[in-house]
Amino acid sequence: MIDVVLGLQWGDEGKGKIADFLTPKYDLVARFQGGPNAGHSLAFNDQKVVLNTIPSGIFHNNCINVIGNGVVVDPVRIKEEIARVEEMRGNPLKNLVFSKKATIILPTHRVLDAASEFARGAEKIGSTLRGITPAYRDKIGRTALFMGEIFSDHFIKHYEQLKKTHLKYIGYYGYKDFDLAALEKEFFDAVEFLKKFKFDDTEYLVNESCAKGLKVLGEGAQGSMLDIDFGSYPYVTSSNTISGGICSGLGVAPSKVKNVSGIFKAYCTRVGSGPFPTELDNEIGELLRQKGFEFGATTGRPRRCGWLDLVALKYAIMLSGVNKLIMMKADVLSGMDTINVCTHYKIDGEKTDRVPSNLCDTKVEPVYTEFKGWKEDISVCKSTSELPQTFKDYIKFIEEYTGVEICIISVGPDREQTILNHQKEL
Ligand code: GDP
Ligand code: IMO
Ligand code: MG
Repeated sequence: MIDVVLGLQWGDEGKGKIADFLTPKYDLVARFQGGPNAGHSLAFNDQKVVLNTIPSGIFHNNCINVIGNGVVVDPVRIKEEIARVEEMRGNPLKNLVFSKKATIILPTHRVLDAASEFARGAEKIGSTLRGITPAYRDKIGRTALFMGEIFSDHFIKHYEQLKKTHLKYIGYYGYKDFDLAALEKEFFDAVEFLKKFKFDDTEYLVNESCAKGLKVLGEGAQGSMLDIDFGSYPYVTSSNTISGGICSGLGVAPSKVKNVSGIFKAYCTRVGSGPFPTELDNEIGELLRQKGFEFGATTGRPRRCGWLDLVALKYAIMLSGVNKLIMMKADVLSGMDTINVCTHYKIDGEKTDRVPSNLCDTKVEPVYTEFKGWKEDISVCKSTSELPQTFKDYIKFIEEYTGVEICIISVGPDREQTILNHQKEL
C-alpha cells in the first residue's frame, strides 16, 4: 500500500520536514510531480538542508528514494543538489533512482520561463524561473526529452530539435539575456555526471515493492491551491499537486493509495502572484514573516502571510481525500493576543464556505472567527499534555470544522520538534 503526504495550502507547508520524519516507517519514498521549483527544508542533528528534486527520505540509508515519471528534472540543479546531500551524508548516494520517463528540463526551458515572465510584465505569475512550465508544456505537447534518453544515440538530435523550437519562441519574446554556450556546457557536463546513477522503469519498482509488502510514501511538492486544475489559475504551477497526481506521476492505481496526510501551517503563506483571501498586508503579516522566517527556500523571496483559511483548507481536504491532518508552525503564533481563522467567504454580500471556481476574478471578503492566543513558547513542548488549553481549543475547532483529526503537531523546524496527537501512529 502507498501513503501520500502533500501540502494543502500554497506550498511551503513543511512537507520536507514531515516526509523526513515519517521515512523510518517506509521502504521507499517517491516524488511524483513538480521539480526544482520545490524547496523542502530538513533539520536534524543541528544540520539544515534544502532539497529541490531529491525526495526527503534521502538521509535514511535503508530507504530507496525515487524520482518518479511525473517529475521534471534539471540535470544542472540536481547535480549540485547531489553534491550538497553527499557532503552532508558523508557518503555517496546509492539509494537514489530516476524514472526513465521523468522529463528533462533543458537550459532553454529555463530561458523560456524567464522570457515568458518578462513578457507578462505586471501580470507575471511569479514563477520560480526553474523552467517548470515550459518543460511540462513540451511533455503535454509530446515533444519532451525523457531522462532515459540520455543513454540513447538520438539524444543529441532530439535535444537540438527542441532547442531550435525553443530559440524561435525566445526570439518571439525578444528576450536576449542569456549565454547559451555556457548554459549548454554545464548541462552536458551534468548529463554525463548523472549517467552513473540508477535509472529504472519506476512504475514497476513501485508496484512490485507494494506487492512484496514494502511500504511506499509519496511526497508531494507545492500545494493544493497551486494545482493546475483546482488552484487559483493561472497563478498555479503546471502539475497536479493533489493526491490524484500520484497515480499518473508514479504509475500507481487509486486502489493502492491508503492514507493521505495533508500538511498545513497554523496560518497561511503564499509566494509569487495570485489571489490570497486572508492575506495580511500589515504589521501582523510582517510579524508572521519575521517570526516564521517566511522567505522562499528556493528563491529567497519574502512569502506573503495571512490568517488560516479554513474554506480553502476544507476544499483541499476534499480534493485529495485527506484522512489525517498535520499542523505546522503553531509555535510562530505564540505570544499573540488574538488569532483569526477564516471560516467563510463573503462574495457579493453572500456568505459561503465554498471556494469559487474563478478565485482570480472574484472579490472575496474573509469572515473570521476570533480565538484567544497563547503566551507560552510551545516550541519546547514534547507531548500534547504540555500544550496550553487555548492552543488545544484552536486545534479542536479546526478538527471539528474539517472533520479530520490532526495527527501530528509540529512546533519547530527540527525533526525532534514533532508531537504525535491523539497518540495516533501514522
Ligand atoms: P516545504 O516546501 O513544504 O517542505 O516547506 P519549506 O521547507 O519550503 O518551508 C517550511 C519552513 O518552515 C522551513 O524553513 C522549515 O525549516 C520551517 N518549519 C517546518 N516546520 C516548522 C515548525 O513547526 N515551526 C517552525 N517555526 N518552523 C518550521
Ligand atoms: P514547495 O514544494 C511555494 C509557486 C511560485 C509561483 C507559482 C508557479 O517548496 O512547497 P512555477 O515555478 O512552478 O512555475 O511557479 O507556484 N511555487 C511555489 N510556492 N512552494 C513551492 O514548492 C512552489 N513551487 C512553485 O512561487 O507562484
Ligand atoms: Mg518549500
